[in-house]
Amino acid sequence: MDLVLGFGHQGLAHRVRVLFEQREEFHFFPRGDFADEALEVGPHRNMAGPGLLLLSNVRPPPPEAAAWVASEPGLARHLQRTLWLDRGKAGEEDLRALAAAAAAAVAAAGVGGLRVVAAPTRLAGEVTDLLPEWVPLEPRAPSHLLCVARLPAGDVTAGQHGEWNGQSCPWAGQPTEGRAGRRRVAAAVAAAAAAAAAAEGRAPAEAGGAAAPADGPEAAAAEAAEAPEPRAVLPLLEVRYEYRWGLVPAEWGFAMRGEAPPERPFADAPASAVHKLDEALRMLGLHERAHHAAAAGAPQPWAIDLGAAPGAWTQHLVRCLGYAVAAVDPAELAPSVLELPAVRHVRALSEAAGPALEALLPAGGAELLVSDMCAHPVQAVKVLRPLLRLLRPGGLLVMTLKLPGVGRDRTGVVARVRRDLGPEVVESSVKAVWLLSNTACERTLIARRAHV
Ligand SMILES: C[S@@+](CC[C@H](N)C(=O)[O-])C[C@H]1O[C@@H](n2cnc3c(N)ncnc32)[C@H](O)[C@@H]1O
Repeated sequence: MDLVLGFGHQGLAHRVRVLFEQREEFHFFPRGDFADEALEVGPHRNMAGPGLLLLSNVRPPPPEAAAWVASEPGLARHLQRTLWLDRGKAGEEDLRALAAAAAAAVAAAGVGGLRVVAAPTRLAGEVTDLLPEWVPLEPRAPSHLLCVARLPAGDVTAGQHGEWNGQSCPWAGQPTEGRAGRRRVAAAVAAAAAAAAAAEGRAPAEAGGAAAPADGPEAAAAEAAEAPEPRAVLPLLEVRYEYRWGLVPAEWGFAMRGEAPPERPFADAPASAVHKLDEALRMLGLHERAHHAAAAGAPQPWAIDLGAAPGAWTQHLVRCLGYAVAAVDPAELAPSVLELPAVRHVRALSEAAGPALEALLPAGGAELLVSDMCAHPVQAVKVLRPLLRLLRPGGLLVMTLKLPGVGRDRTGVVARVRRDLGPEVVESSVKAVWLLSNTACERTLIARRAHV
């Protein structure tokens, strides 16, 4: 069965796709074989749009997979809907046929009450209008869900198909409309051609139709007339859609926002930054490990929290993972954090905190060093690096990278940070993750202290 996760914007679908690819390293998806592949099915360069992630051939039984979706805090906060797709496909013009097939399935299954869940959302109304009147619609307390998704037909490589705010490629065929439009088309066409060339094992320059659009309508027309027959079909200009659907028990659905009273974990945390740390530590399996260590009577581990104020991370480390925390920040901690017996506030800049931390920590050093200092990553690493000696060999570093500028490709800064951390950390352990709780400009860096 295929499962579509629907988010508020494509950036979130993108992050979950990357986490799917990293599922061997990080515990976000359940362990074991989860699905064949994860495909972003929405605009990739543009952060708006349907924000869908299609997980094909999901292995766990749907109730199990649905339970995971509901229990994964990052998903529970950001997901808007889930769609289970197990039935046939209908062409884009065939919504009427789909509605007829769905009605027949509703009759065969003896459905007591039906809700239509769709992506894009407006489809729900269109499908509902096409269902016969006898279909028992029960949007509030359904027994079953009719899931309908409009998805690209055939293979679409993320980032190359031309949808813009829900409309098919409005700039296709209008490359001369303004300088920005020309640049956008040139970049998209070049990327699609390069990918097509790479897939065929050719050099990108050979891809037909990959040239930047000409300057002005006449020049563009002349160039088009002279252009050789394209050797690569550019998906940018070639997206076709189809409908996929499924009829499933209502329990498999994800409670949509505003429907169930929103459960707000960490409602009493002094800052919403707590979600970032919780997500990172969960992915590293630290919650489980802390639980087992406490059950086995291990001594209370220490953590260093750099840039700790107002104290959400510190509070989380103490309350949920059982750490004693040295919280470093010249700013004040919230009184509720300060009064926790396992918290020591080192009221100083990290640059000056070394001696105080040395005096506090046990001889073996801290288990964990976390940093959420607001500083450019290069500056933050400069400040943090001398303190890595206070982390025990094998201990973990978790650090928010607050990146300047926009764009998804942050490999340059991450490479610089990796280099600057030096031999104090295990080189292969350094990973930059884009958590669901990170902002568009943040990544979370994870590394392990070297045995030096
Ligand atoms: C985003 S806040 C941290 C929020 C915190 N993680 C929480 O959960 O409450 C960033 C903090 O970094 C601190 N900071 C910035 N530069 C610092 C430095 N060099 N040393 C220590 N703290 C620093 C600021 O004072 C600020 O309180």
